[in-house]
Amino acid sequence: MNKPINIAIDGPAAAGKSTVAKLIAEKMHYTYIDTGAMYRALTYKALKQNVNVEMEQELVDLLKQTKIDLQPGEKGQLVFLDNEDVTNFIRTSKVTNTVSIVAKHPNVRFEMVKRQKEFAKKGGVVMDGRDIGTHVLPNAEAKIFLSASVEERAKRRYTENISKGFKEDLEKLKEEIARRDQLDSEREASPLKKAEDAVVVDTTSLSIEDVVEKIMSVVSERVR
Ligand code: CDP
Ligand code: CDP
Repeated sequence: MNKPINIAIDGPAAAGKSTVAKLIAEKMHYTYIDTGAMYRALTYKALKQNVNVEMEQELVDLLKQTKIDLQPGEKGQLVFLDNEDVTNFIRTSKVTNTVSIVAKHPNVRFEMVKRQKEFAKKGGVVMDGRDIGTHVLPNAEAKIFLSASVEERAKRRYTENISKGFKEDLEKLKEEIARRDQLDSEREASPLKKAEDAVVVDTTSLSIEDVVEKIMSVVSERVR
């Protein structure tokens, strides 16, 4: 059997990271780790406890007392916060519009990255986020950077929301995505950035199957 490798998938909001990362993990029989869900879980807890998300030390203290578990479920990854299933609660627009503030703090990131590296230490992980190829798994054997136009990404979120039974204004979604991209790309601590050795896949006019195929061709070159 081939030695399990680590696969890093980064990119901006709604580029398709989690959808394709899950499919790649299934094909490879690897574990999928959604690092965005970890920042979202902490954000959810901070909002619930009225912690000021601009206060770095308060967030770090909160995170140190917080258990975040990611487990595979029938309909995708389940997220447990202190043993409570918060999978659906971490996707509200309140959390989405606050998470990039929580994620800008270097010491919050330091603690998160420590946990993420631990998940990947034995290999066999497909991890998606913003800084996986650059900071979390700089030695990952395969690194992919997914991109797509902001219009296309807003449309994808819009369609996804409709399929979940709620409707959000397309223009508003586009503005929110653009704002989050800007915060994530311009922060000082490990910003959203393509790793030098990452393969870029522009998914704007690609189907999910096309994207998976392109990534699998990179992955199969790296598995020995
Ligand atoms: O799914 P979506 O692309 O909307 O976002 P996500 O992957 O759930 O990530 C939510 C937020 O967490 C991002 O906008 C970043 O602010 C932060 N994040 C990060 O800073 N670093 C990561 N490795 C993953 C997420
Ligand atoms: O994880 P990230 O925020 O990067 O994106 P996602 O949640 O995986 O994908 C956002 C939406 O775009 C999902 O509803 C996907 O089905 C859809 N989509 C895609 O992921 N890739 C394409 N090539 C086309 C659509």
